[in-house]
Amino acid sequence: MLVITLCVGSSCYMRGAHQVAEAIERNIEHHGLTAKVELQGAFCLGRCLDGVAACLDGQPLPRLTPTNIDEVFARYILKEA
Ligand code: FES
Repeated sequence: MLVITLCVGSSCYMRGAHQVAEAIERNIEHHGLTAKVELQGAFCLGRCLDGVAACLDGQPLPRLTPTNIDEVFARYILKEA
């Protein structure tokens, strides 16, 4: 099981964490990965500067935005699933 940890702290929330979370869930369902990929929320990951912070199995993902999440999902998550 791959675990995506998405920051829902205040800074990331202001930068669209809610929309990013919805897009991740949509990607997981679209690619039939509900048994392989789990999305978890976390508070501040200490990387609040820009975009929404997230990790994949503890490794930092690029900063996420509602507009880049599909590309990041395909590049970093889909190939691991
Ligand atoms: S609030 Fe998200 S990394 Fe700090």
